[in-house]
Amino acid sequence: MKQTLIELLDARVRAALNAVGCEGAAAVIAPSGRPEFGDYQANGVMGAAKARKMNPRALAEQVLAQLDLAEIASKVEIAGPGFINITIAPDFLAQQLEAALADEHLGVPQPASQRVVVDYSSPNLAKEMHVGHLRSTIIGDALARVLRFLGHQVIAQNHVGDWGTQFGMLTAYLIEAEQEGEVALADLEDFYRRAKQRFDADEAFATRARECVVKLQGGDAQVNALWQKFLDVSLHHCESLYAKLGVGLKREDVRGESAYNDDLSVVVRDLQAKGLAVESEGAQVVFLEEFKNKEDQPQAYIVQKQDGGYLYSTSDLAAVRYRAGSLKADRVLYVVDARQALHFQQMFTVARKAAYAPESMKLEHVGFGVMLGEDGKPFKTRTGGTVKLAELLDEAEHRAFALVSEKNSEMPEAQRREIAHVVGIGSVKYADLSKNRNSDYVFSWDSMLSLEGNSAPYLLFAYARIAGVFRRAENFDAAASIVLTEEAERQLALALARFAEALQTVARETMPHFLCAYLYELAGQFMRFYEACPVLKSEGSVRESRLRLCQLTARTLKTGLGLLGIETLEQM
Ligand code: ARG
Repeated sequence: MKQTLIELLDARVRAALNAVGCEGAAAVIAPSGRPEFGDYQANGVMGAAKARKMNPRALAEQVLAQLDLAEIASKVEIAGPGFINITIAPDFLAQQLEAALADEHLGVPQPASQRVVVDYSSPNLAKEMHVGHLRSTIIGDALARVLRFLGHQVIAQNHVGDWGTQFGMLTAYLIEAEQEGEVALADLEDFYRRAKQRFDADEAFATRARECVVKLQGGDAQVNALWQKFLDVSLHHCESLYAKLGVGLKREDVRGESAYNDDLSVVVRDLQAKGLAVESEGAQVVFLEEFKNKEDQPQAYIVQKQDGGYLYSTSDLAAVRYRAGSLKADRVLYVVDARQALHFQQMFTVARKAAYAPESMKLEHVGFGVMLGEDGKPFKTRTGGTVKLAELLDEAEHRAFALVSEKNSEMPEAQRREIAHVVGIGSVKYADLSKNRNSDYVFSWDSMLSLEGNSAPYLLFAYARIAGVFRRAENFDAAASIVLTEEAERQLALALARFAEALQTVARETMPHFLCAYLYELAGQFMRFYEACPVLKSEGSVRESRLRLCQLTARTLKTGLGLLGIETLEQM
């Protein structure tokens, strides 16, 4: 079975701990922070010694005597109170890299697979997608790709907002617009604004809008057909953005709030029967002892309003029940704005109590902060409006086109456009994915399009540089062995050998920025290697070995960027 370096070291160190009587003690393997501490550290001895009231340093010596890392490490040392510092042997690293090159999965282990539901993008269909939906869409897509690559079965769920009172207003307005024969839905944002104006200004219209909601929920054919038409236009708009972003969401992945319509009353009745939902001021409410409000009273999670209407919270309960019961998920990720954190904590609590989500199914809110403008305030247009996603992406391509044209004025325009597309979209995505998703981040064109620093252009450039090496290489022995003699080679090799670890961290923590940080580190190691070690100018087996390192670096960069949903260029 394929293993990561950490898994391998972990097994060996645990075996040694066992052999000296510390059964079940954790090895606690981590990459070393500083080169003088080797490549990895085993930090478990201190904990094991403490639990057994032993001297850690003495225990470390016993462990070391039992530790079998013969073919793996070139140096194993005790440091400080009982750290074990491990330096990986160049030959062992070379073998790992050769195995990765021979494997279409680059040697990344694919453990027993889980069924993972990823709820992402999930815009409200009443309006056009705006920048707020960008983060959910691209973070969710990156997580889905990484999980699939690790062998998991991913079920994407686009939990769109396609239900509720707004759709009464929109269908009522559509009836009028159709009578007047205008092409009403060309601009969704404008259509929504006009419908809303009409709703606020004209009581007769507002009444018709409310009637439409009732008809829609009651299955009236005409209103349903109009609603379908509206959704179709709106989803089309989303899909054009997904295509532009290179996001893999399909129509089949859409399972919006309306899909749960028939389950809502069932859920509320069931919550009542289980003694969870009770009446409070005419509404149906679950009181949660786990959450206290300002008056130190249990918080109310409302599942049905006074007027009998259901809420976002009710459809989420129906959805979680479906994800457990029908989709048989082992893990559900909700990639949604951090401002909904309380909603999810409460919803998860109710779902557990009502047994809609068995304890074995993990529920995780993958929250994220907001996008800020360069002034540090929420990202808005110059006039203070919400930024339409379509316009933002067009601007990214324009800016990238200007930069590419400046550098390569003689390049044919079609090629410059192609580069601008990859660089523009890749930069927007990478800038977002490379930040810890929990924090707000400043949207800055200059830094995202910069060729320096942790940016898409920097990584794309590193990849294109390697592609250039192969264009000039003419002949290359794809079966040559890798031999690591220079330290820069060994460091590059170590970075390459850590790809699987980075992916596992992303999947476990649901944090794509770890993959970005990994790729940035890898590209940096490659640049150092490339400065220190001539490739095409060296000869014989050294040249071939270095070309193999270049090859694996290129494949790892391309695969890694691909898992972030970012394309690469052979030339830029
Ligand atoms: N439509 C919601 C919004 O735009 C997000 C839905 C997220 N998914 C969920 N299961 N609640 O805020």
